Formats: sequence, C-alpha cells, structure tokens
Amino acid sequence: MSPYQDQIEENWERDAMSKVIEKLQKEHFRLGRLVCLLNEQANLRTDATAPNIALLVDALCYLTRFPDVTHHMLEDRMVEKLLAKKALSVEVGHEIEAQHLRLIRDGRDLLRDLEAATRGENMSQELVDIRVRLYAERLRHNMVIEELTLFPAAEASLNDEDWHAIEDIGPHGQSDPLFDGEVDEQFVQLYRVINDEATTAHAGAPFCAGL
Ligand SMILES: [Fe+2]
Repeated sequence: MSPYQDQIEENWERDAMSKVIEKLQKEHFRLGRLVCLLNEQANLRTDATAPNIALLVDALCYLTRFPDVTHHMLEDRMVEKLLAKKALSVEVGHEIEAQHLRLIRDGRDLLRDLEAATRGENMSQELVDIRVRLYAERLRHNMVIEELTLFPAAEASLNDEDWHAIEDIGPHGQSDPLFDGEVDEQFVQLYRVINDEATTAHAGAPFCAGL
C-alpha cells in the first residue's frame, strides 16, 4: 500500500471514530442541559398545580424515549467491544452498563410518578423532588465516568471495523425529537425553557457551563 493510501485509510478510520465520539460528546452537552433543568425545576418544588411539573414530565419523557434507547445503546456497544479486546477494566465496563440500566428503570418509574402527580394522585411531593435530583445526579455521574474512562479507551483501542460496527447498531432514521432540527410538538415548551436557561446558567457547574 502506498503512503498516500495509508494516509487515506488512516483518515477514514479517524473520521469514523471522531464521528461517533463527537456525536456522544455533543449529546452529553445536551443531556447536561437537562441535568441542570431537572435540578432547577425540582428545587422549585413539585406541585401538581405548578407548571414546572409538566416540564419535568416532558424532560423525563424525552430522556426515556431518546437517550435511553440510542445514546446509551451506542455506549454499551463500545463497552462490549472494549471488554472483548481487554482494553477496558471489567469493573468499569460493567459499572457503565449497570448505570445505564438503572437510568432506564429510574427514568420510567419517575415518569410514571410525575404523571400521577399531575393527575393529583396522593404522593409525597418532597420524595418526588428528591428522586428527580437523584436521577439528575446519576445521569451527570454516568457522563463523567464515560468521559474519563470509556471515551479515552475507545479512542485508543477501537479500530475502523469496530467503529463502523458500532455506528451500524443504532436505530436508523430516528432523529432526536428535542435537539435535532424541528422540535417535536410535545417538547416545544421544554426546548424553549432549556434555551432560556442558557442565559442564566451558573458558570461553576460543569454541565451547565456555557449554556
Ligand atoms: Fe453517555
């Protein structure tokens, strides 16, 4: 193979890798906005009559409908590839996968309870507030772990074939209903609030910075 062909091959490989990593990092930034929103809205106190509970429902609805089935699935696939190559500690890999499963379960439970709260069903509002903040913290923690362990290991150890296999896993044609292009009608209010938050975010909070 000529040096020119080598260069093309190397660029192609880097492109496949950058495409996936950049997509995941972009999604982490966006999920960080939702973490901020969940914390701020929970601090405003959940009340069946307060408008903010509808936002919490929308946020959980988005999180369970999109990142749980696309973003996390892509990362789980990276974990599996790295574990097969012994390029990631088994403990870390299994921890990331367990965190994803927990986020799916907690997100669905929380959504169900928030929807019950909007119907005025009797439940501890304080407990719901705490669970929203706990869910937000788990999501934030999961992203930090991935950026410190999974992404660097994947960049160092996965090859072109791996990256293309990972890319092929995702559900095709499913676009992000909140952040990509036209916002789904269901999430218009959520989108507006997230963008308004961008101007008032706290610079000290890692995932709120620069919003
Ligand atoms: Fe992630």
